[in-house]
Amino acid sequence: MSDKIMIFDTTLRDGEQSPGATMNIDEKIRMARQLETLGVDIIEAGFPIASQGDFESVKSIAESVTNLQVAGLCRSVTKDIDRCWEAVKNAPEGRIHTFLATSPIHMEYKLGKTPDQVVEMAEAAVKHAAKYTSNVEFSAEDASRSDWDFLVRVFNTAIKAGARTLNVPDTVGYTQPHEFYEMIRFLMEKLEMKSDTVISVHCHNDLGLAVANSLAAIRAGARQVECTVSGIGERAGNAALEEVVMALNTRKDLYDIDCDVVTEQLYPSCRRLSQIIGQPIPPYKAIVGTNAFAHESGVHQDGVIKNRQTYEIMTAESIGRQGTEIVIGKHSGSHAIKRKVEELGYTLQDDQVEAMFSAVKELADKKERIHDEDVEALVLEKVYRRRDKFRLRDMSVFSGTGEVPPHAAVVMEFGDEGGDVEVRKNTAFGRGTIDAVFSSIYDLIGYRASLESYTVNAVTSGTDALAGVAVRITHDGFKAVGRANDEDVVRASALALVNALNRLEITREERK
Ligand code: KIV
Ligand code: ZN
Repeated sequence: MSDKIMIFDTTLRDGEQSPGATMNIDEKIRMARQLETLGVDIIEAGFPIASQGDFESVKSIAESVTNLQVAGLCRSVTKDIDRCWEAVKNAPEGRIHTFLATSPIHMEYKLGKTPDQVVEMAEAAVKHAAKYTSNVEFSAEDASRSDWDFLVRVFNTAIKAGARTLNVPDTVGYTQPHEFYEMIRFLMEKLEMKSDTVISVHCHNDLGLAVANSLAAIRAGARQVECTVSGIGERAGNAALEEVVMALNTRKDLYDIDCDVVTEQLYPSCRRLSQIIGQPIPPYKAIVGTNAFAHESGVHQDGVIKNRQTYEIMTAESIGRQGTEIVIGKHSGSHAIKRKVEELGYTLQDDQVEAMFSAVKELADKKERIHDEDVEALVLEKVYRRRDKFRLRDMSVFSGTGEVPPHAAVVMEFGDEGGDVEVRKNTAFGRGTIDAVFSSIYDLIGYRASLESYTVNAVTSGTDALAGVAVRITHDGFKAVGRANDEDVVRASALALVNALNRLEITREERK
C-alpha cells in the first residue's frame, strides 16, 4: 500500500515574500479558497507577529476555509507563539509553525547564541506552543548547512517537547539531491520518532534544485513537502507545487506515494495566482507555461498527431488545461458561460452568471473570438473587483512627434457608483502617450506613486489581441500591483495604473 504525502502550501507566506507578490486580505482569502479547492493539506497563511495587517489576514484566512489545516509562522519566542495561536486558533485545524536557526553561521552571526542555548530555546518554544495545540511544527532554519549530529539533538529535543512535524529547510538552496537524500535518511535513522512524527522538507531554488531536492527527500522518507504555487518565494523561490505533484503523479511507478491534490486544479491555481499578483506565468514554465504542451518542430508535430504520448508525458487535461474546448462567442448561452468560468477555476452564484452573460455578449459584439483570458478578465472585472475608490471613465491621447508633445485627457470618477460620484477631468503632457496618461491620473488623484515595473503582454492572438499590462508601484512605503487587459495598450496601461492605485488604497486602509 502506498504512503500519503502531505502538501503544505506556503504561497501566502514564503510566496508572498517574493518581490512584487504582495497581496491584500481579499486576495489572500481568494487564493486560500483556491488552495482548498486544489486539495492541499495545509496552508501557511502568514507570519502573524510581523504586523497588524499580517495578523488580520492570517486570522481572516483561518476563519474563511472549511477543510484545511492553517499554519502560522513564528520565531521561537513566547510572544510570537502567542500571537500565532491567536491568529490560527479558529481554523478548522490550526498549526503553530515555530522556527529557529541551527547552522553555525546563523547561530553565531544572526542569533548570537551558542548551540546549547539554541537547544534550550527550541525546547522552550515547542513546549510553549504545545500548551495550545498538539499540531506543532518545528523548523531548523538553514538545516542543510547545519551539523547533522547537532540537528539530531535539536530535533529529538523538539519531539520530546511536543513537536509532531519536524521541518528540514534548505533555506539558501545549497543542498544537492543525493546529499539531501542521505541527510533525510540519516535523520530518519537517528531520530527518536513517535508513531505520528512527520519529517518535512522546505527547499529553496537558488541553484534551480528545489523540486529535485524535495523529490529526493520524499524518496528518503519525508512525508510532508512545503512548496508554493508556480514556485514563487523568497529570492529564487521555493519548490513549485505543480512540479512536485506532477512528478509524483507521472512517476508513481518510482515514488508509489499518494497525494490528495486535485491535479485538474493545478493550472487554474497558477492562473489565479498570476492574476492576483499581476505577474504572467512564464511561457517556458514547466507544467503550466503556454509552451508546456506546444510542439514546434515538424518531427514532434508529426509524432504528436500519430500518438500524443510520443512527446507528451502527461495530458493537458490532467492539469486542468482545456481538453474539450468550450468556445465562447456571440451565441453562447449562460450554461456554456458558467461551464467555461468553472473550467477556469471560479464558481459563480446565479446573479453573477447573469452579469457574466451580459458582459460576454457585450464583448462578443466588439471581438470576433473570445479567448479564455478574455473570460477570466471579465470575471475579475465584473465579479471579483472590490468597489474601487476611483475609476477611469474616459480618456483620449495625442501622440505627437513634432512641436506638440504627446498629451492625454482623462476623466475619472471618485466615490461610490450609485452614490455621490464626483467627476474630475484633466489634461497633461508627457514624454509619450503612456507617460502623459499616467501624469494626468496622478494629477487627478493628488499624488504621484513611483513606477517600479511596467510589463506588457499580448494576452491573446490576432489583430484584436488583448494587451495585458501589469504595473508595480510604491507610495509612502506601500506597494501594489495592478493589471488590466484591453484591446488598446494605452487604455490597458491606464486601467492597470488605476487598478494598482485602488489596491494601494486598500492596503493603506488595511494597515491602518
Ligand atoms: O526558508 C526557510 O528556512 C523558511 C523557514 C522559516 C521554514 O522559510
Ligand atoms: Zn523558506
